[in-house]
Amino acid sequence: MELFEAIDKRFSNRKYLDKQISDEDLKKILKAGMQAPIGRGKYEDMHITVIQNKDLLNEISGLADRSVFYNAPTLVIISARDDGNGLDKENSACVAMNMLLAATALGLGSIYLNLVIGLIKEHKEILDKLNLPEGFVPVVGVGIGYADGEHIKDHEISVDYM
Ligand SMILES: Cc1cc2nc3c(=O)[nH]c(=O)nc-3n(C[C@H](O)[C@H](O)[C@H](O)COP(=O)(O)O)c2cc1C
Repeated sequence: MELFEAIDKRFSNRKYLDKQISDEDLKKILKAGMQAPIGRGKYEDMHITVIQNKDLLNEISGLADRSVFYNAPTLVIISARDDGNGLDKENSACVAMNMLLAATALGLGSIYLNLVIGLIKEHKEILDKLNLPEGFVPVVGVGIGYADGEHIKDHEISVDYM
């Protein structure tokens, strides 16, 4: 899929089929995330966790009274070293955005997730299971899977030309 088509087609998918994505697609999506720009080029300050284990996914979704990742069969957690300068959030968003576009280009549904991060941080038993490298914190979640349905979007943001 051409880039501009993927940009137009990407949407926050909140309904997934009960079908796992292929390892090949997962690899391409992770690779796309790794090609994102990172402040000062500090790729060593970033970490990616792929959760496909159904027991762990159920454990996470069972912690909230509302859906936090919509039963996406693949939940990617992007973590970063918390160095206090705020770049962790910006860097993680860049990685996530590349993943979302790559997933779309592969014909998959995806979603940027913030709520799941708060939930994970609140539950030490889950955080411990992620086994993140020392000094890293989870920053952004990305849900990926086969979309159950389509969605048309046409967002606008105000622009000034000067
Ligand atoms: C920083 C950020 C955090 C978000 N967190 C969530 C979330 O926790 N749960 C959710 O359902 N959608 C979340 N979204 C998705 C937005 O609601 C969505 O991108 C927006 O409504 C536009 O819709 P679209 O992605 O379909 O174009 C988040 C998006 C961004 C950029």
